[in-house]
Amino acid sequence: MIKSLLTDELLREPLSIEGEHLTIDGCDTTKLAEEFGTPLYVTSEQQLRRNVQKWQRVLEEHWTDGPVLLYPSLKANPIIAVRRILTEENTGCDIFGPGELECALRAGVSGEHLSVNGSIKDRGLIAKAIEAGARIVLDSPRELIVCNEEAGRLGRKVKVLLRLKPHLGSLDLESDFAPGMQVSYLTQIIKYGIPTKEVLEMAQTINALQNVDLIGVHVHMGRHSKKPIVWRAWVEACVTLTRQVADIIGDWTPQVIDVGGGFPSPLDHDPDVAIIDYATPSVEIFAKTIAETLREALVSNGFSPAGIRLEIEPGRSIHADTGIHLTRVRNLKSDDVHIQYRWAEVDTAETFIDGHGFNLERPAYDYFIANKMGAPNEVLYDIVGQTCNAEILTHQLPAPLLERGDLVAFLNTGAYAEPNAANFNALPRPGMVLVNDGSAELIRRAETVDDVFARDLIPARLSN
Ligand SMILES: Cc1ncc(COP(=O)(O)O)c(C=O)c1O
Repeated sequence: MIKSLLTDELLREPLSIEGEHLTIDGCDTTKLAEEFGTPLYVTSEQQLRRNVQKWQRVLEEHWTDGPVLLYPSLKANPIIAVRRILTEENTGCDIFGPGELECALRAGVSGEHLSVNGSIKDRGLIAKAIEAGARIVLDSPRELIVCNEEAGRLGRKVKVLLRLKPHLGSLDLESDFAPGMQVSYLTQIIKYGIPTKEVLEMAQTINALQNVDLIGVHVHMGRHSKKPIVWRAWVEACVTLTRQVADIIGDWTPQVIDVGGGFPSPLDHDPDVAIIDYATPSVEIFAKTIAETLREALVSNGFSPAGIRLEIEPGRSIHADTGIHLTRVRNLKSDDVHIQYRWAEVDTAETFIDGHGFNLERPAYDYFIANKMGAPNEVLYDIVGQTCNAEILTHQLPAPLLERGDLVAFLNTGAYAEPNAANFNALPRPGMVLVNDGSAELIRRAETVDDVFARDLIPARLSN
């Protein structure tokens, strides 16, 4: 018999087993599939609340000098009902662009909890954000001017943060995104953030602008590395640059330091990252590293930490393990002439779960056969999606003997899978269900074929 996939490691909250079936947040996945159809995204409300509460609690334990506020990054799961849960949890909201601003407003996020990020904000977005009472994370000198003009026109004063590009100095560490390249180089060439030359120039003029209130600084490194050492260097470099900016402004201290997102989720395969095969530090380790480094760096740079608000913008780390993706086996193929091989064709697609390509060395996602949880693994399959691409979601991995109609649950799909879904092959994108302590509600319906073609126009000359 082939080694079981059913390890204790994978079967953790919000997943469990009842009889032969996989459950999530108290809901039987086979019933979810019957009621809502497949493919289907499933999000666990309780897991999301647990993840957020944990980050908040642990950061507060370590950052005792001032308040702590989470700004979960909306892009990781931009569904209005999901954001409403985060609003109930009193978190801030990091958004990018007009679409996410709309999502946040529809989810009832108050202006004081909104933080508008992004590298090219147009005047319309800035004006709408100021009207809503949001703060703006500045990404260029141009945005500073536009913020000042739009706030003046609206008779407001807008809170702003400077998005810095700290230099990691002598840190000798390669990026997990791009092995062979240094994190210190990649965090400089990335388009986001104000180039240091420009931010130092902005610091000379910002005091003269009547309608902006510079409340702090922002940085976002991304998931270059899970190693705490990189967070130590990042926070130190952030404070060093903040000191330079403060010296130019004169008599200015940040009230807010936002160190961005980029934290991993332990069981997540993270399709964007090439190197994942080393231990994921706990939330406690990240919180301790960030808080201790921040305190030391502030003091050594002549700032008092007292009262400074520490913020983080987690995306993947709070969402990944809230989600699973359900898909049914629609067809089975096997061969034993030139090759001994079995394929299970399922009704999802690489384009629905951000699992593009061959995935030969590791599956796009770990998985369970959700209706055969007790069955021994007897054979190897490639689980392949339904697009015309040569997509391989899992390559020669063990499963029980499969039948048409069996249900596959891909795990840890809660971050970025749904918002990255595309209509390749004119396939309608799946819907999402929110599960909570045994109840299930549809929070985004599946697309229809009419939705797929809803934006198409036929010029009159081609209508016949
Ligand atoms: C400004 C900002 N904050 C937070 C995040 C969330 O990142 P992650 O999901 O890696 O935590 C992103 C992701 O791109 C981002 O651009």
